[in-house]
Amino acid sequence: MSVERVDTDSGAAAASNSRYVALVPAAGSGTRLGAGMPKQYQLLAGLPLIQHAVSTLAAHPQIERVYVVLAPNDSHFVSCDWGALGVKVSALYCGGDTRAASVRNGLAELSTQLSASDWVMVHDAARPCLTEADVDRLIQTLSASAVGGLLAVPVADTLKRATAEGLVLDTQSREHLWQAQTPQMFRYQRLVAALARADLATVTDEASAIEQSGFQPQLVLGSAMNLKVTYPADQTLAELILLRFN
Ligand code: CTP
Ligand code: MG
Repeated sequence: MSVERVDTDSGAAAASNSRYVALVPAAGSGTRLGAGMPKQYQLLAGLPLIQHAVSTLAAHPQIERVYVVLAPNDSHFVSCDWGALGVKVSALYCGGDTRAASVRNGLAELSTQLSASDWVMVHDAARPCLTEADVDRLIQTLSASAVGGLLAVPVADTLKRATAEGLVLDTQSREHLWQAQTPQMFRYQRLVAALARADLATVTDEASAIEQSGFQPQLVLGSAMNLKVTYPADQTLAELILLRFN
């Protein structure tokens, strides 16, 4: 099916026979966390960080399969215990130099398994507090969309632009500004085409590659609790959230 065909499909008709799969980039090294091992394998509320979000995705009734993109030399993933959810979780040892390269490589491995209009939900392994309700909201909001979209939250803080010396240059308006999260959900063929054209060194999420292709992803209200673990303080916050709500 060509991209054009997907474009002209009525969203509702296309959605009715499209499948949902998740793709989880997990090939990073966690340099900003500085834990001495990739952050996705740090224990959080008693489980490797990666197990939280992957389990939420695999447990979701509408998600058929969860593909986890790993570094080619990953030696930790095989130790994860998925229990009954393991039948829905597949490892792809094809991670690249950047997040976008990992996603692109993972998508390439799925070319014989997915149709052009299947939905691919890309979610950072480093966002462990994803909930079933977040996934439901994304799927429901985008069910009639031909393009797709992403979870995001409106910017709440006042934004300062800084000089190289750390002095305030000016204050930016936060009006209409959102912080992009994951999952980000797009149709398989469109995402493959967008990432094939994108500059992988500068594209930090799928939506920006889709935007560069001339489409407008839909923003879907997410939750501040779906934070990305980047620095040690995020690890503390994420663990508190998991212990409170799981
Ligand atoms: N990721 C990936 N392949 C890469 C880089 C990142 O699959 N080459 C994944 C990470 O494993 C993570 C997600 O993309 O799940 C978001 O990336 P980020 O938070 O930047 O994680 P790291 O790159 O591991 O951390 P850092 O940038 O601090 O090194
Ligand atoms: Mg990174």
